[in-house]
Parts: sequence; structure tokens; C-alpha cells
Amino acid sequence: EKTLATLHDGSVLPRGGRKLRSARWFNSDSNPGMTALYIERYLNYGMTREELMSGKPVIGIAQSGSDIAPCNRHHLELAKRVREGIRSAGGIAFEFPTHPIQESSRRPTACLDRNLAYLGLVEILHAYPLDGVVLLTGCDKTTPAALMAAATVNIPAICLNVGPMLNGYVKNDLAGSGMVVWKGREMYAAGEINREEFIDYVSRGAPSVGHCNTMGTASTMNALAEALGMALPGSAAIPAPYRERTQCAYETGERIVEMVHADRKPSDIMTRAAFENVIVTNTAIGGSTNAPIHINAMAKHIGVDLSLNDWDELGFHIPLLLNMQPAGEFLGEEYYRAGGLPSIMAELLEAGKLRPDALTCNGRTVEENVRGQLSWNRRIIRAYADPLMADAGFLHLQGSLFNSAIMKTCVISPTFRKKFLENPADLNAFESAVVVFDGPEDYHDRLDDPATPIDDTSILVMRGAGPLGYPGAAEVVNMHPPARLLRQGITSLPCIGDGRQSGTSGSPSILNASPEAAAGGNLAILRDGDRLRVDLNQRRVDILIDAAELERRRADLQARGGYSGPENQTPWQEIFRRQTDQLNEGMVLRSAVKYQRVAQR
Ligand code: FES
Ligand code: MG
Repeated sequence: EKTLATLHDGSVLPRGGRKLRSARWFNSDSNPGMTALYIERYLNYGMTREELMSGKPVIGIAQSGSDIAPCNRHHLELAKRVREGIRSAGGIAFEFPTHPIQESSRRPTACLDRNLAYLGLVEILHAYPLDGVVLLTGCDKTTPAALMAAATVNIPAICLNVGPMLNGYVKNDLAGSGMVVWKGREMYAAGEINREEFIDYVSRGAPSVGHCNTMGTASTMNALAEALGMALPGSAAIPAPYRERTQCAYETGERIVEMVHADRKPSDIMTRAAFENVIVTNTAIGGSTNAPIHINAMAKHIGVDLSLNDWDELGFHIPLLLNMQPAGEFLGEEYYRAGGLPSIMAELLEAGKLRPDALTCNGRTVEENVRGQLSWNRRIIRAYADPLMADAGFLHLQGSLFNSAIMKTCVISPTFRKKFLENPADLNAFESAVVVFDGPEDYHDRLDDPATPIDDTSILVMRGAGPLGYPGAAEVVNMHPPARLLRQGITSLPCIGDGRQSGTSGSPSILNASPEAAAGGNLAILRDGDRLRVDLNQRRVDILIDAAELERRRADLQARGGYSGPENQTPWQEIFRRQTDQLNEGMVLRSAVKYQRVAQR
């Protein structure tokens, strides 16, 4: 194959003499007519023919920020510095919009859009003249959607997080975005504050541009993108308004050009070793219960074997090192100033818990990136030998109620342990009667109804909230007790459900239950008053009703045509429900998984 230098005198030759992917559009030997046509339209806003035919790497900037996606909106500014980085490293930038995903305002739930944004990005990366891409991430599902697409297409790709907001405060107390909502709802439900005060209280969690400043799903997924090797080391935790964030945007732009020259693709970075590092890191930061869904989805799209058993086996025994809300006390600014993710990974590396040789986007290994970068602030980032909590990872539970569900153990409070566990010193068992809700609307309607049989020993069950039942799976499993119990100081009850829960929730729920009620799971046959045995040590949740009765109820359910959810409201909801797997399988589009490395097709 001819190199670009022989085609265009004085052009920048891709190192190694390799003809880049964009040459299929802008320097086609076989079809100059099409090349002329492709080039013609990109000239119309001021690009020159020399630039387009120079053979320089063409880099996409996948812009996820907009007015309706405020968490990522600061990327409209950051993208300018990404461009400058691309340009100064000898590349050409093409910025384009991605499907917006705004966690807090998208109805019925933002998670419905993860797979839609994924599909859209796959088409763009596959079909346009791009040699590499900078993925502008931030709000919860924007990061997994981008990384899933990068995995499928497999062109050089790097993430740039928008960064967390500055710390929020109520008077002198830290107010974490997302978190203040839970506390505010309790205060409002208990009649301690009025509606105006409630809205004002919640607003204090969001004092600047950026994504949630707690270790919710946004901070988690961006930390994990860095742990995976797909973002520059030290980049994830930089608060959005800090100057380092803008500098990092420039460096990320420079770096992607180098990655294209080195032909460093997602499949070189997103390996089994890298995913193991992600699982271990997630425990140490007290990461979101959404992480296994999204990380398992990425693994599926890149073709790496990863299951929820890996999360329990590799992740459960890792300690919690980061003192950040919801598992701890602080917010994003302290996390960053104490050393950010490299300081946490340095602890894990020294303890022998990381796969040190995993390659990252800067061309170095994890070990080369983080060794020795221990934190100077031990209140925020603890030493491995002196953690906030031992054994702080997720449990993977099975049993007769579902085939698979997870529980985040680092948010199980001492009061919860004392009240419910047979032996509070140990993660072991409890039995109790359930109160069952059919989706969040039913919960809100019946919670405070005196006829609803909730007492301080109840297990609250949420069903109809999984990927099919509530298209996209609602973040509603963390349920607060009724106002009359809140007024008695009972602020939490055990919750179980087939939905998800917010990454900012501190609730010790058993969630992501698969199969969900709407997919034929046994949650569909539970009734108020049924008893469950939850044995955390044995990793089981079982229904304490006899087999004959179980059979009768299953037959009944079948005769009724199964557990049905609401009507589809949009064409995408229908496609999503027809195509999507359960939460334990990463909620991916089943038919999408076979399209791997499409850039090579
Ligand atoms: Fe967007 Fe939390 S709502 S990051
Ligand atoms: Mg959320």
C-alpha cells in the first residue's frame, strides 16, 4: 500500500508509514470521485484541502454536553482546549454531538438512554472519517455509553471527564449533590421543613458546573474509566472549575493523537486484567451499585469474560479507603486534593491487589502510573492497612427469590446490623415479612396509607422496576420508611427489588434482582406478609413458603399472562424491551454484542 507521503508531497506521514482510517474518505486511491465529494463538504466552513488531505489523524470529539445535559455542559468550554491539544500534536479535530443523557431529568429514567447513546455513537464512529476519538464523559450513563461504543468500534479512544462540581454546603455542613435529596426528603416527609425550604435545601448540593460531587455513579464511572486505563492518570477527580481540568483537556487532546500514531485501541487496554483492577478499585472508593451493570456491559462489548461472581470474589474482601459520601464524609474537592484516584490505586498496588502490568492510554502500565503516589491526607484516603471498613465490596446473592442480585456492604450502618442481623458482628442472616410495591408510583401512593402493613421489622420490596418493567430500570429500590416510622427515628428498613438504586444512596438494599418480575422472576409472586430469609454469609435470599404454594402461585401468574408493566410510550421503549438483557448481564442489547471491532470491518 502506498504511504501518504507518496500521494501528497510535504504531508505529515503517520508514523510507521501506515495509512490512517480517514484516508478511506479523504485520500482514496480507488475512488477519487468519492474523495472529492467527501472533501468538498468539509471545505464549506473553512477547512482547507491541504489540511484534509494532509494525512494527519482526524480526531472526533464526542460532545455530550448541552443545555439539556447540564452535568456535562462544561464540556462546551473544555472541548476548545481538547481541540488545541489535538491541533498542537498534529491532528485535526471534528467535534460532534452525542445523544444527551441527563440523569436527573430524563423520564422515565436516564438508563433507558445508555443503550440508545451507545447505538448512536457506534454509528458515528463507524461511519465517519475518524481515526480516534475523545469521549467527553461525566453524568452517570454518559461514561458507560461512550466506553461501550469505543469497545464495539475499537478505534483509539480516550475519556475526558467533565469533573465533579465544587463542594456544596448547608451552613457549615457539606451538602453532596444527589445525597442532600435523600436527607431532604426525610426532613420534608417528617414535616421538619416546608416545600420552599426543601427545594432550597436540595439546590445547595449543586454550587457550580460539573457532575455530582459525591461518589455517586458519575464519580464512580469516571474513576473506573481511569482505573480501566481509558482516561489519563489523575484526571477523573479534578473538580470541573479547577484550572487543572482545563489543562487536562489539552493534554487529553494531545494524547489521543499519539494513541492514533501508536495504533493503541480499546482492545489493547480493556483487557481482563484491566477489568479486575476496576472491580478492586470500585470497592476501595465505595463505588456505585450501578458500576457492575455498566462495567459488565463494557466487558461484553469488548469480548472479555466478566460476571457478578468476579465482583464478589475479587471485590468483596477489598477494604474501603476513600472517605467520601455516601459511604464516608467528604466530597469531590477533598478527594482530589488528597491525591485522587492515583493515591487509592497506589495503596492497592502496594498491597498486591492490582494487576500491575495492565496497559493504559498513556502507553504506560498501571504500576508505572501510580506507584508511590500515596496520599498525604489520611483522613480522606486511608492506608490499606488502616481502612475505613474491611470487606467493603459487593455481595452477589442468589436463592429462590432471584438468580442474581447485589448488595453494597460498605453502606450497611451499625444500627442496621444491630437491628436486623442475627449476629451483628458478622454479616449473617435475618428473617422478616415483606411489604410489596408494584413500582415507584404504588410505593408513593401506599407508603403512608395506615392500611399498608409496615412496621419496624418489615422488608420493603420493589418490583416492576427492572429493565423491562420500568423501561431502563428505575433507581427506586432505596425506599424510606413511612412518615410515622421516620418520626420515631426509624430511618431505614431493608429493601429488596428488581430496580436499581441511585449511586448516591446510602441504603443497604438488595437490588438489581434478575430475572425481574416482568421477566418471570419470583418477585412477581410475592405477597404482603410473605416471609423471606436473607443470609448474607451464604449469599442467599429465599422465600419461606412451601414448594406446593410456590407452584400454585407460579401457575396463577402464568394463567394471568405474567407480570405486566406499563404500555410503551415511544418506539425506542419498544425496541429496548424487545432487545435488552437483564441487569446481571449488563442490560446490553443482546444482538449488539456480536458486533465487535467494527472499525476493522
Ligand atoms: Fe448528572 Fe449526578 S445527576 S452527575
Ligand atoms: Mg442516578
